[in-house]
Amino acid sequence: VASIAIAGAGPVAQSLGWLLSRSGYPVQAVASRSRERAEQGAAFIGTAPVGYEDIGRLSLPTIIAVTDAALPAVAARLASATGAPAVAVHTCGVHGPDVLQPLADKGWSVGVMHPLQTIPTPEHGTRSLPGAAFGIGGATDAVAFASALVGAVGGRAINVRPDAFPLYHAAAVVAGNGIFALVEAASAMMAEAGVEPDEVRSVLEPLARTSLTNAFGPDGDHRLTGPVARGDTATVGAHMAALITRDGRAVTVEQTGERALLYAALTSWLLRIARRRGLAATSTESIAALVRIPSHGGTP
Ligand SMILES: NC(=O)c1ccc[n+]([C@@H]2O[C@H](COP(=O)([O-])OP(=O)(O)OC[C@H]3O[C@@H](n4cnc5c(N)ncnc54)[C@H](OP(=O)(O)O)[C@@H]3O)[C@@H](O)[C@H]2O)c1
Repeated sequence: VASIAIAGAGPVAQSLGWLLSRSGYPVQAVASRSRERAEQGAAFIGTAPVGYEDIGRLSLPTIIAVTDAALPAVAARLASATGAPAVAVHTCGVHGPDVLQPLADKGWSVGVMHPLQTIPTPEHGTRSLPGAAFGIGGATDAVAFASALVGAVGGRAINVRPDAFPLYHAAAVVAGNGIFALVEAASAMMAEAGVEPDEVRSVLEPLARTSLTNAFGPDGDHRLTGPVARGDTATVGAHMAALITRDGRAVTVEQTGERALLYAALTSWLLRIARRRGLAATSTESIAALVRIPSHGGTP
């Protein structure tokens, strides 16, 4: 039986702790900044609430799942109290292992174990972490520890270059939060086109859901439809003209430029898919020319 400790008592700490304590990794203690949160997290997992320094003193293999900004300070608090060195992994996606340097300085093997999933509540996490991917990286023992934990919760460990966590995390934000941004932008444009504002989301949902399914389908490239896939330059031109004008007049970037920039950026990624499918070079180039920003703010 390999006991572990957890610093942090938010949704990630609680859901990971709950899953691990039921899969061969009993959680000996959970710490938080406030006593109340530590008690709440401990009750959810079924363990003892302690303070950060206690986690350092335990010198157990440790998961650190605190707010990103608090990571250096929490690592320093653990390090200040540590006895024998152990292993620690944090769950933040944007930082590499280096953010745990105070522990590395005390001989700990440090790394990252970032769940590539959205975890708004502990209950969500207990359901969504099995089957999720986890970005891992760091020193050898830390990576071995992270891989074992990921395997225990039924996740999938993927290696990330230790210096590339900001890029890896930006990709995660594009695929996750980016969906929210796309729905927000499309909803605003639909409402401006006259669709009832309280209907736009339900109008867009079947289209968005089918597209998501198709994009991840085995032949995703070939399920792409629409003007870029067809090489329909005239339609892309009409879209750009609509996006950079309002009431027949050119608008500035500050007014609605974000939507033209968004459309242009999406189009250039769609062109990559269309080229892979064999779109003619002339069509590719004429569409690319249409979305070469910025033409907005000047003559439409
Ligand atoms: N939630 C997600 O969807 C998700 C997904 C993947 C990765 N992550 C990452 O996992 C980590 C934990 O995220 P989370 O959403 O579970 O919880 P969180 O809200 O980011 O962090 C909560 C924990 O951090 C502690 N904390 C906050 N400020 C502190 C400070 N100044 N000093 C010491 N402790 C402090 C809190 O203590 P008190 O409450 O007692 O003040 C609490 O234990 C973060 O790095 C996050 O980026 C989150």
